[in-house]
Amino acid sequence: MQKVFDIKENKQKFDELLAYIESQDKSQGVLMQTLHKAQELFGYLPIEVQKFVSEKTKIPMAEIYGVATFYTQFSLEPKGKHTVGVCMGTACYVKNAQLVLDKLAKELNVAVGATTEDGLFTLEATRCLGCCGLAPVIMVDDTVYGKVDPKDVPEIVANYKK
Ligand code: FES
Repeated sequence: MQKVFDIKENKQKFDELLAYIESQDKSQGVLMQTLHKAQELFGYLPIEVQKFVSEKTKIPMAEIYGVATFYTQFSLEPKGKHTVGVCMGTACYVKNAQLVLDKLAKELNVAVGATTEDGLFTLEATRCLGCCGLAPVIMVDDTVYGKVDPKDVPEIVANYKK
């Protein structure tokens, strides 16, 4: 089922975002901070939120969309309750991170970059997570798992289904 963004349901968040925008010093570049704030509030940057930012900051939609799609920290899709990041940096890649990623995609039945239908997991391929000695590394929310073997995947996933 396709999730629909409900503007009315999110009114309080829009009010909060507006208050944030109005508190900003407009002589400085405000777009990055505003999009960060919007993502913090809504969890992602749906088109309705981008339009709102454009309207309130007078920054063209094309510029907002360009920034929102260029930087990987911004997401245009709702994220799952848990984010599973598989490091695809060099050290992890040579230690078969791709097999771990494939196993996760199969176990969760989701494509890389997408969210499971139950909204529980978002699967992502990431850059180096800074703990290469533990390669291959995955990160679930704020927890790092090192030296992950594809056969460890079902147990790791099961912990987050409880
Ligand atoms: S390459 Fe994976 S943690 Fe550095």
